[in-house]
Amino acid sequence: MPGSDDIVAVACDHGGFALKPAVLEVLREAGLEVLDLGTDSEDSVDYPDFGQALAEAVISGRAARGVVICGTGIGISIAANRYPEIRAAACHDETTARLAREHNNANVLALGARITGTEVAKDCLRAFLKTPFGGERHERRVDKLGRLPSSA
Ligand code: RB5
Repeated sequence: MPGSDDIVAVACDHGGFALKPAVLEVLREAGLEVLDLGTDSEDSVDYPDFGQALAEAVISGRAARGVVICGTGIGISIAANRYPEIRAAACHDETTARLAREHNNANVLALGARITGTEVAKDCLRAFLKTPFGGERHERRVDKLGRLPSSA
């Protein structure tokens, strides 16, 4: 059913394309359904377009969470984070991915294919998938992230 926890959207630019197969493999091994939003080759594209597509898929409920990949994980996470509903975390190891879930309730994992090795990236994704939000004191802070500064 659309919007269920079992659907994970994936989007990358050409700089992230090399890591996409490993990301899809981890998601499918975990029994999750993938909404693949491209790109599908190393031909040059613009990461803001793919960050936007992923953000809109999550906000609309077509996917419950997402993974974005570019060369560094930075540009595409900036693109996705333009939306108040999106909390995209650029993570470089299992610990940052776990804490992005526990403390920040990240709903999008951002990976850098030119920065993070494939096995570490897979560990990041597994931690992102399995770690629940910690709630409690983090709830108030995460709520503030979803409000524009003028209304905070
Ligand atoms: C593309 O060359 C590269 O700039 C992009 O993948 C990303 O790293 C941007 O932040």
